[in-house]
Amino acid sequence: MLNTTKSLGHSPAAHELGRAIVKAAPTDASVLLVGESGTGKEVVARAIHERSNRKDAPFVAVNCGAITPSLAESELFGHEKGSFTGASMTTAGCFERSHLGTLFLDEVTEMPLSMQVQLLRVLENGTYHRVGGTEELKVDVRIIAATNRDPKEAVESGRFRSDLLYRLAVFPIRVPPLRERKADISYLAQRFLDELNEQENTKKRFAPQSIARLESSSWPGNVRELKNTVTRAFILSEDEVDIAAPGAPAISAPEVQQGVLKIAVGTPLTEAQRAIIMATLDHFSGDKRRTALALGISPKTLYNRLEEFRKHGYVGA
Ligand SMILES: Nc1ncnc2c1ncn2[C@@H]1O[C@H](COP(=O)(O)OP(=O)(O)OP(=O)(O)O)[C@@H](O)[C@H]1O
Ligand SMILES: [Mg+2]
Repeated sequence: MLNTTKSLGHSPAAHELGRAIVKAAPTDASVLLVGESGTGKEVVARAIHERSNRKDAPFVAVNCGAITPSLAESELFGHEKGSFTGASMTTAGCFERSHLGTLFLDEVTEMPLSMQVQLLRVLENGTYHRVGGTEELKVDVRIIAATNRDPKEAVESGRFRSDLLYRLAVFPIRVPPLRERKADISYLAQRFLDELNEQENTKKRFAPQSIARLESSSWPGNVRELKNTVTRAFILSEDEVDIAAPGAPAISAPEVQQGVLKIAVGTPLTEAQRAIIMATLDHFSGDKRRTALALGISPKTLYNRLEEFRKHGYVGA
């Protein structure tokens, strides 16, 4: 959790981001966070909530990409017991759960189109009712949305409604990738190490050259990848946390050659699984349904795996 916006980092880009947070926080304006995966969009969303006068009310995060069109309405507005098969009890939707607080719509451009219509309607009307219900409920929720796509492109390709984008992007904030704020790398790395030392009750330090190596990397997975790298090195080290030199000898990474995936003996299972999933997804041009079918897993399992990969800083997942 960010107590002060200073802790975002020391780079000019981090300062600018901090200023945007301070400006946006006390208003009720809808904020749209745009930035690559792992840049800290959720961290920023929480920082805005924490600095707003809604801070004592709930912050509710919803992953819009994981909601199927058929469940969208119930997800947003909740439902009354018995309103559809499987609705065994009255359940609050995310608007009700975040009442008086902040609703964080993550991966907003992945929201099914039918859900976009429902969202737009509730934002315009200011009221809604649970599925199968008649009681009129009032919306008093601050919306923060996030996406790692270019929202204009999402509109142009017909995936996202322009009228909804205007509603959500009253206060747009770009969350810059780590490669544009290299000055933050050493600061964040040291902070992650301090946190690990505190958790584990250790006093490990970085080996010489480690920070320089971290700074020379391009970090396609951004802060999440940096954090994972420091954590892995911490676990593997005794007193000195050593970050391997780029290109250090290692088991060669899986690669696709003429439709065949080569995986070296000794490849960690998690890595092999990731390689198979990503190669298959690539083979089917990103079609998740066909990929899941070919791999013999449900689309839901595939989605969960991709989400895990993303969380671990792999791009393209
Ligand atoms: N300024 C920061 N200080 C400390 N930790 C940070 C900072 N920015 C990001 N992180 C950490 O990096 C990880 C990724 O951050 P976050 O989940 O907010 O990214 P994201 O932009 O929402 O990514 P995605 O688009 O993949 O959901 C988290 O573990 C978060 O705690
Ligand atoms: Mg996120």
